[in-house]
Amino acid sequence: MNQWLDERLHISRLNDKFLRKAFPVHHSFFLGEITLFALILLILTGAILALFYEPSVVLVKNPLNPTSTDLVPAAWASAININAMPFGDMLRRMHHWMANLMMGAGLMHMMRIYFTGAYKKPREINWWIGLLLIIFTALTAVTGYSLPYDNFAFTTLKVVVGIASSIPWIGEWVGQAAFAGKFPGPGIISRVYGYHIMLLPGILLALTGAHMLLMIKQKHTQPRYAKELAYKKIVGVPLITQQTPIMLMLALLFTGLVMLFAAFIPVHPVEVFGPPSNQSPIVKPDFYLLWVFGILAILPGSLEFNLWGGVFNAEFFGALVTPGIIIGLLFAIPLIDRSSENQYYAENPTDYPVRLGLGIAFFVMIGVFSVAGYRPELVQSGILKESNANTILWILAIVLPIISYFLTIGIVRGIRKLREADEREMQAAAADD
Ligand code: HEM
Repeated sequence: MNQWLDERLHISRLNDKFLRKAFPVHHSFFLGEITLFALILLILTGAILALFYEPSVVLVKNPLNPTSTDLVPAAWASAININAMPFGDMLRRMHHWMANLMMGAGLMHMMRIYFTGAYKKPREINWWIGLLLIIFTALTAVTGYSLPYDNFAFTTLKVVVGIASSIPWIGEWVGQAAFAGKFPGPGIISRVYGYHIMLLPGILLALTGAHMLLMIKQKHTQPRYAKELAYKKIVGVPLITQQTPIMLMLALLFTGLVMLFAAFIPVHPVEVFGPPSNQSPIVKPDFYLLWVFGILAILPGSLEFNLWGGVFNAEFFGALVTPGIIIGLLFAIPLIDRSSENQYYAENPTDYPVRLGLGIAFFVMIGVFSVAGYRPELVQSGILKESNANTILWILAIVLPIISYFLTIGIVRGIRKLREADEREMQAAAADD
């Protein structure tokens, strides 16, 4: 049988070339795989949900109150019907939590890459593809959020259309072109649905394919223990006999975790929010976009000026310009860090204190902006005063990252001094023997 297949499909060549490849083993390398599993499971659960979801705003009978005459959008009604289906609500919850876990794992994967210098030559392109992957994953999640078309989703969509329309000079055109006419148009849901199930997943799959091919071509960085074992050789486990069972266990563990989440933590109660209305509930994005929301919340609403006929306002600066600059900095990292290339091994984060300090300062800044996303609650609870909430949050967003940068440098220098003292002691002890 093997020979029959080999004569026709050259299996043995595939085996020698790929199946016997050594996969470096280190727990932090599982983060990319977990992100990949989440993408696969999102597509699987999404495909099932798509069988029952109705991407339309046409008015139909209210499934929660079939005897009444009031009509509701078909999209909302179908979300209610999905919830009522056996396992329907569980499926929606799994899809929701998987999106959050994919973003969480993807961001930790990015941190692993950054703090171990795996973005350096020759892997700059994979760093840029990775950033695009994270951005398109977030966009896919935001479009997904709008599909239940309840009052929460409707308000979120209003915010998203508002942000797109805030671009000076062309905003109105961009908003109408991207969201099928003046908001809320009859085509809004079918347009967003097209983005969510076709365009964006297509882009994600293409980017992931390029990401994996480049990783295989460039070979994965290796954990530091491999240096001791076999210098400049790839040390790892073969795909079929060991890497596959490891990945399978990880995928099952991950799926189990997501089901646990989905079983106990409800999401987006479409019944409670009800169909779209002109009452806007307080909406907050998920954790990975809270920082953008926070920047918007602490920019003065009165910030607006006109330049050559274009209107520049707080929405444009808060949701597009500032995040654009921050994400632009991430893209520039491989160009800014011109230190030695990193062909083989994951670098020890404490060997690069400035990079470590800047990375930690960056995440502290994102953390403060995320807390600013709860500005209304901070004022309501009396922790901050309405009069100076913005000023205090801006000061924290600037000062805390600076403090954490110098703190990190100080700690790393302290660790290094301790390590050197240990080494000196050991050498002295060895000399005495
Ligand atoms: C969001 C979707 C993503 C998926 C599905 C994904 C998937 C993967 C997988 C499976 C690996 C190999 C295992 C590992 O190192 O963890 C990997 C490696 C890599 N990823 Fe990603 N990744 C994603 C996002 C990112 C991001 C956001 C970045 C950086 C900004 C990035 C940069 C890289 C680099 C540079 C490598 C090679 C690592 C090395 O050789 O050490 N990826 N990715």
